[in-house]
Amino acid sequence: MASAEDLKREVGRAAVDRFVVDGMRLGLGTGSTAIWAVRRTAERFASGELTRIRVVTTSLQSDLEARSLGLPVVTLNDAGMEEGLDLTIDGADEVDARGNMIKGGGGALLMEKVVAYASARFVVVVDRGKLSDRLGALFPVPIEVVPGALAPVRRALQALGAEVGLRMGVRKAGPVVTDLGNLLFDARFRTAFDPSAMEAALDAIPGVLGNGLFTRRRPEVLSAGPGGISTLSF
Ligand code: A5P
Repeated sequence: MASAEDLKREVGRAAVDRFVVDGMRLGLGTGSTAIWAVRRTAERFASGELTRIRVVTTSLQSDLEARSLGLPVVTLNDAGMEEGLDLTIDGADEVDARGNMIKGGGGALLMEKVVAYASARFVVVVDRGKLSDRLGALFPVPIEVVPGALAPVRRALQALGAEVGLRMGVRKAGPVVTDLGNLLFDARFRTAFDPSAMEAALDAIPGVLGNGLFTRRRPEVLSAGPGGISTLSF
């Protein structure tokens, strides 16, 4: 039987093989599934199939991996990137029946959203266990917060009905510090909410730099399970 890691590898690689063509401006996501898309892109680049692609990374993780494998990494600020990206491939933590998502389990939600929303197409690679009837049932919503605003942001989130936890480091004392130097709240909502309205409400809190609700870009989702890969379009 395929392990969880096998499924991540299979779906991450499949997204690159199905959707990436030479000359693309390609966004590359973060996490244990999207990293396989970075690696597969690098394999195809090294083989000479994708010599004219340019990639934009979403985190220190994907940036280090892409550069170490020789991919041509640029930023959205570079000359030639004025029209944004053709395609982004990324993972997700939870996907609902309308294609709304929670992302940010790996802490990279802010640049992931900048990159996803700058892309003409957004392909999301998950295992089937991340598909959900009610967004928030499986995963809290990560929220990137400027450190000086922790207390007022916590109160504002509680007023929206969330149970709020500051994300703590593992093998590091104190909180997780994001790639961009900020802190993360994980906000758990026990009852249903409107994902699009909640994304806007979270963004409106002073001190919130980004949130893990992705509702404004309809994804094409590749979901891997024991029976193979299914495609969901919204
Ligand atoms: C990174 O911050 C996240 O948005 C990831 O894309 C998401 O957490 C999925 O990661 P895994 O593929 O590791 O589950």
